[in-house]
Amino acid sequence: MCGIFGYVNYKTPKKRQEIIQILLKGTFFLLCEYGSWKLSEIGLQRLEYRGYDSAGLAYDGEEEGAPVVVREVGTVACLEKAVNAELIGKPLSVRERVFNSHVGIAHTRWATHGAPSVKNSHPHSSDPTHEFLVVHNGIITNYNPLKAMLLSKGYVFETDTDTEVVAKLLKYFHDSIREDGEPPTFARLMMYVVHAIEGAFALLVKSRHYPNELVASKRGSPLVIGIKSETTFDKETFEVEASAPLLPDSDSRDFLLENGRISNDVASLEYRSSTNDSNSSGAFFSSFSRPSKGLRFVLRKEAANKIEFFFSSDPSAIIEHTNKVFYPEDNDVVYVKDGDMEVFCYSNEDPSIARNRLLSTIDLELEEIMKGRFEHFMLKEIYEQPESVQQTMRGRIHKLSNGQYEVQLGGIRDRFYDILRSNRMIFVACGTSYHACLACRQIIEELTELPVSVELASDFLDRRCPIFRSDVCIFVSQSGETAETLEALRYAKSHNALTVGVVNVVGSSIARLTDCGVHINAGCEIGVASTKVYTSQIVVLIMIALQLSADSRSKLQRREEIFQALISLPSKIETTLQLDSQMKKIAHSLESRSSILLFGRGYQYATCLEAALKIKEVSYMHTEGIHAGELKHGPLALVDQDMPVILFVTRDSTARKVQNALQQVIARGGFRSMIVVCTEKDEETKRLKSEVELVQVPETVDCLQNLLNIIPFQLLSYHLAVQRGHNVDQPRNLAKSVTVE
Ligand code: F6R
Repeated sequence: MCGIFGYVNYKTPKKRQEIIQILLKGTFFLLCEYGSWKLSEIGLQRLEYRGYDSAGLAYDGEEEGAPVVVREVGTVACLEKAVNAELIGKPLSVRERVFNSHVGIAHTRWATHGAPSVKNSHPHSSDPTHEFLVVHNGIITNYNPLKAMLLSKGYVFETDTDTEVVAKLLKYFHDSIREDGEPPTFARLMMYVVHAIEGAFALLVKSRHYPNELVASKRGSPLVIGIKSETTFDKETFEVEASAPLLPDSDSRDFLLENGRISNDVASLEYRSSTNDSNSSGAFFSSFSRPSKGLRFVLRKEAANKIEFFFSSDPSAIIEHTNKVFYPEDNDVVYVKDGDMEVFCYSNEDPSIARNRLLSTIDLELEEIMKGRFEHFMLKEIYEQPESVQQTMRGRIHKLSNGQYEVQLGGIRDRFYDILRSNRMIFVACGTSYHACLACRQIIEELTELPVSVELASDFLDRRCPIFRSDVCIFVSQSGETAETLEALRYAKSHNALTVGVVNVVGSSIARLTDCGVHINAGCEIGVASTKVYTSQIVVLIMIALQLSADSRSKLQRREEIFQALISLPSKIETTLQLDSQMKKIAHSLESRSSILLFGRGYQYATCLEAALKIKEVSYMHTEGIHAGELKHGPLALVDQDMPVILFVTRDSTARKVQNALQQVIARGGFRSMIVVCTEKDEETKRLKSEVELVQVPETVDCLQNLLNIIPFQLLSYHLAVQRGHNVDQPRNLAKSVTVE
């Protein structure tokens, strides 16, 4: 949740207004898209999907080192108005002042601590003169004791947020710690803070004490740094230095305990050196265990005199500027000064093998993150599914010389036998990703003959589910950053299970922490409601099952049937999308209802849950997905002639039983508002045409039918939301990437 964005230029002269535009939405960049010229949405505006309660930014003002802070409730467009209002009366020389070097930071907020308001908007400040300004994504879980300590030192808090404690802590350390008689460098100051705070964070800090310098750090929340220069960087210019003079483990703890323990409250806090309990908001210190030495990586400016740095929660916000990026690891402190970037890393790694601290190239096209001819990202992404599903399979399914097909997923090839010899497979995910796992459980069990369980990451953690080294845990996530899924991954790793990631965002935390994995390759998904990634997740999970069953002769025929269905899938999705106008009509008939029930079983149970989630999250209508076998155990009481009921009766091994459910609903008069989903060839169900609304989808193999069946309901949820006047891409209270528990 929340998006942070920072921009640092060095010897690349930029006018003040240009800097503001880069922060807000990048330089005004015209792009010819589908025949019409549009303003691109880059920078902070591209991060809006991460939160849109309020936004703010900080840039340098007229007085040397004195920053200007603008914050506004609402979207980035509201912030832009506020920034313009701030600049409007100023002479052109002020608006157009050129900065050779400058640090700007910006934020778009999804409120966790404190209601959406100007005072709670970021950047947060250490004091009225803005000695330190902070933008933050995540939650500082030990902010209460730190706040108590700072209050006892006379600090005055203005906001209800957890983040403010970071700004004040920076000032407190700056004013009270002396190293060789001087305040610490900006990087070391940040190390003190990173040692003292607990929870999840990605932080960017700007300070009037350290003009034109920026420090950043992350733990658990995403952060990517884009680097733009005239030089092509490679590993030679990104030097690793051993034995870096990093802050010893104990320094900030000792400092705080000796100097900060004033109030009784704080004095009574226990010192927790090592715990797995992530819910440790009552304590000063986290379980983050710091080795005494670390590494320092330097990207030197000799290689490039002119250089620009873009700090962002998400690579899509910087792709217009550069595709060269660096992904910091948890607890790294990144320090930019005079065009050099230094990364201080707490690691026992041998510097000679510290290979993975290199720049990467992101493979993302600007067009992928534009709406094009569509009104909303959600609709664009629904319509992209023939292509996104194709992209997920591309280069992975091969026809052999004997005419049979095979799957090659390079990311799990080396662990193939470890997975196959495991005792069970545990799929862990949240929301739509969880539904994708449920949708595939049956076929994975059938093809691998392994016990498969599917876990909601939050429940998995709540139960401290028993995990053994003989288990394979598979973490499925679009963003690769979802807090609970990430925490569950750490938990599984601590129990020595083999961990596999199935993620869409390349370079995300889950992708980097798992032992092996498969990228979903659905392309960038911007709409908060996940659509194209859901269908691609199903394809990936089925491909994993196909790869794992490659040696099974008894499954030969079944596998061939699935391969054939996968190959014809994109064209069947195209056909399914033609249901759009029917779904729009159905949306009209449902838009004023207060509830909708969806029933299905077998492969379609997940479809019911996912369709219900889609409808509720964008149209805000109460919608429930119910296992059709449970109908007579309670939910039938809800059915009357006015209750809209959607029933999935597509052909598979449970079809006969679902027909029973259909009859039970009809017998209760439910047919008057009934929508029945069947395949085009289902003559038996088609006889009901005059009594119920029939939605006829193309037929495919049973385990892929759910993928086609969900598409009309993605469209239905979209049209319901539009007709009810909601902002489809920014549903209330939600954010795309849920990086807080
Ligand atoms: C719903 C939706 C969410 C996500 C969930 C997990 O449309 O998108 O339910 O599926 O927040 O997110 P990821 O897949 O990023 O782990």
